[in-house]
Amino acid sequence: MSQPAGAALSAARQRVQALREQIAQHNYRYYVLDDPGVSDAEFDSLLGELRALETTHPELLSPDSPTQRVGGEVAEAFAPVVHRLPMLSLENAFSAEEVEGFDRRCREAADGAEVAYVAEPKLDGLAVNLVYEKGRLVRAATRGDGATGEDVTANIRTLRSVPRVLRGAAPALLEARGEVFMPVAGFAKLNEEQQRAGGKLFVNPRNAAAGALRQIDPRVTAIRPLEICFYGIGAMEGGAEPDTQTAMLAMLREWGLRVSRLAQTLTGPAALLAYYGQMQQQRAALPYQIDGVVYKVDSRALQQKLGQVSRAPRWAVAHKFPPEEARTVLREVEFQVGRTGALTPVARLLPVLVGGATVSNATLHNMGEIARKDIRIGDTVLVRRAGDVIPEVVRSLPELRPADAPAILLPAQCPVCGSAVEQVEGEAVARCTGALRCRAQRHEALRHFASRRAMDIEGLGDERIAQLIERELVQTPADLYRLEVPAIAGLARMAEKSAQNLVAAIAASRETTLPRFLHALGIREVGEATAATLARHFGNLDALRGADIDALRLAPDVGPVVAARVHAFFADAGNQAVVNDLLACGIRWPQIAAARDAQPLAGKTVVLTGALPDMSREQAKEQLEALGAKVAGSVSKKTHYVVAGEDAGSKLTKAQGLGVPVLDAQGLAALLRGELP
Ligand code: IVH
Repeated sequence: MSQPAGAALSAARQRVQALREQIAQHNYRYYVLDDPGVSDAEFDSLLGELRALETTHPELLSPDSPTQRVGGEVAEAFAPVVHRLPMLSLENAFSAEEVEGFDRRCREAADGAEVAYVAEPKLDGLAVNLVYEKGRLVRAATRGDGATGEDVTANIRTLRSVPRVLRGAAPALLEARGEVFMPVAGFAKLNEEQQRAGGKLFVNPRNAAAGALRQIDPRVTAIRPLEICFYGIGAMEGGAEPDTQTAMLAMLREWGLRVSRLAQTLTGPAALLAYYGQMQQQRAALPYQIDGVVYKVDSRALQQKLGQVSRAPRWAVAHKFPPEEARTVLREVEFQVGRTGALTPVARLLPVLVGGATVSNATLHNMGEIARKDIRIGDTVLVRRAGDVIPEVVRSLPELRPADAPAILLPAQCPVCGSAVEQVEGEAVARCTGALRCRAQRHEALRHFASRRAMDIEGLGDERIAQLIERELVQTPADLYRLEVPAIAGLARMAEKSAQNLVAAIAASRETTLPRFLHALGIREVGEATAATLARHFGNLDALRGADIDALRLAPDVGPVVAARVHAFFADAGNQAVVNDLLACGIRWPQIAAARDAQPLAGKTVVLTGALPDMSREQAKEQLEALGAKVAGSVSKKTHYVVAGEDAGSKLTKAQGLGVPVLDAQGLAALLRGELP
């Protein structure tokens, strides 16, 4: 039986439409209502049928189809995205007194009346901002510094709990805000897979979620178990704004955006504290990690009246759970050697579960801390994991100490290279004196040298560096530039093609800038910003190398410690040899001295707005002007760049309206290096 092609297509179109609606409905029931209507198998079969129809009739494909979670519109991954309204952070409270203080301030603003709050769990994930235009998801970005985040649209679209299209009557524009997280079970499974594949293990679900969200390839994100939960809105246009936080959550839910089913509207501080207690009890049984609860004033009018201080609203607070601690036994102590030779004592522990993760190593920081906390080998100790920091040994329980527990001693020799270890008077850390003769320091130095903000050598990661050092192919950074394809093509997991790419990437890094080069050298106390200052002040390497301590002190922001470090670095014969060797290998950069006289920013008008993380606006203005820029107070068509810090306001909006390029703190740093975006 043959049907006219037109009729077949129209039947397929209807079925495709029906399937998409059913699938959206099932996703809504599953994620938002927490009430799955069908089994996973039934769901998969609907999706399979839809996929088959779309394959037969590609003309029916649409980017909103649930089959198209990966792919579709191409956005530049991680490009900066300016939030229409800044994404604020929260003030923390750790005690009942602090919560009562918060309630008191809110009550004062309410002229003494009891205040209603929304209380909800504080999910331990990453804040994101999803922009829906006329109900369609058009952009998703990370929080970033609150003003500007990174474009993660393609990755966010892979989450099944993120609807492409809002249900019901959607506003013209909506910034929906929530937390992306990885459920604990998914995290455990992912780590098992990573372990089997010999990959890197993630420290905690939050780290794993961050890693998954920052994948260049959305297909990788798609197979990671990420979920989202919404808790607020940013900008909204063309719709009635809710007048309470409770109504806002209800609206989000009606649009098909999942909100926490543990959210409650409560009045008065006693109810908040009771809620906190309940959540603390439920915590371990929840399928995701929470690190506290959040209280928000319910009335949005009162929220507005309370306003915000710096980056946090005065109408909300995060009541944090105490950091998680567990008891275990310290079996032995090893010393790890860092880039600058610093020896860090690391406790090897009897594995113990702390807040849902197994801990078998914890930092002891330094010898001073060990003495202060009176810790010995064989001690029963308390270990703590707090958020994303490395677990640490909090204290020992001396009453449980075995009679013969040996003291922890600083080794006289570096455990890696055998060079003498020195403990400088007045400094907390002890260091290996082996410098680049020490493998551990060499490894860290090479890693730093190759890193993105230094020489930016693509493909030279940890594993490669370890191999190069292992085979003794590389001793100093200069050796990198002498590597040839045949020598490295023999390394494990290194095909001829990757070897060629690596050699090409190393060669390409020869063209650099003086600030990058100085940063790459890894001089102690000289980070990215100081490297840029030194480069600008001295203009060229020879002037810097020849400077004595007094001359170094004349550079802006260079104090006695930095001056001494820089001087000592260039006075060291070994360092001199490495630097000369690097120059002989062809590393070069555009002359800044000339550029400085010509003033690289001459003729450019820059407007500064919002709070900058590393410097005051006044400092930024001085530095920009020193490079020839004009710093103006208001934005116009003639403005070349707007630098937007935290809580940037109308100037930012105006810049966006006029299409003036907007830079974040990193963009400003580049500008100050004389690099025009
Ligand atoms: S409200 C003004 N609610 O906590 C509103 N944040 O410490 C600011 N977070 O960046 C956020 N669960 O990543 C809010 N229920 C919740 C939250 C929550 C987790 C995170 C969010 C935010 C951080 C602030």
